[in-house]
Amino acid sequence: MFYEPKKKDHGLPKNPFNSLVIPRPIGWISSVDSAGIFNLAPYSFFNGVCYNPPTVMFAGGVGSAADGSKDSVRNVLETGEFVCNMANWETREQMNQSSATVAPDCDEIAMTGLTPVASTLVKAPRIAEAPINLECRLIKAVDIPGWTPKDDYKVVFGEVVGIHIDDTVITQEGFVDVAKIMPIGRLGYNDYTRVDSDSSFTLDRPT
Ligand SMILES: Cc1cc2nc3c(=O)[nH]c(=O)nc-3n(C[C@H](O)[C@H](O)[C@H](O)COP(=O)(O)O)c2cc1C
Repeated sequence: MFYEPKKKDHGLPKNPFNSLVIPRPIGWISSVDSAGIFNLAPYSFFNGVCYNPPTVMFAGGVGSAADGSKDSVRNVLETGEFVCNMANWETREQMNQSSATVAPDCDEIAMTGLTPVASTLVKAPRIAEAPINLECRLIKAVDIPGWTPKDDYKVVFGEVVGIHIDDTVITQEGFVDVAKIMPIGRLGYNDYTRVDSDSSFTLDRPT
């Protein structure tokens, strides 16, 4: 089949787009607003984009708050900082819970029963239960205009200035133990995948 997204002529019961770029890593973004209220939410329009400096991005759509911004995006623009926590099999339920639409003054870290820990270089807290935390500083935000204003997105780029890796997920050989972490990825619809020892494999690069 072929369809043109703008014509919405796929003929399927649901827009398939988010099943077509998969699996997507989940940036589980913790931030703090200027009043000190913690925020936590998952973003799967998320990725690492380059090495030096290590850089990540996440894209936020229109939010339910009066200013139309998602809380994470507003906080990052206000404070210039955020933490990207790795969501895994162990924390999948809390990750999902933290996507609930709540008022900006709701502390979603407390709401999900997770443990905030002070970061080393940024004011945004990191999540103790996450095996990896990337402390980030805002580089820039780019507007992606939607077909209508309710489709607008803002892509936030951050430089990773500090990295925490739980020592228990580093193997004796010094590799990050993906099978132990069991990261989760977003598929389409409400579906997810899990990386574990059965689902990961190695390919040597051609010389
Ligand atoms: C797995 C998952 C991935 C999501 N990815 C995105 C995303 O990339 N962009 C977005 O705007 N919302 C995304 N959402 C929805 C947000 O998490 C949700 O709107 C949340 O309430 C935003 O919180 P905030 O306003 O505290 O930032 C996702 C939800 C889930 C469960």
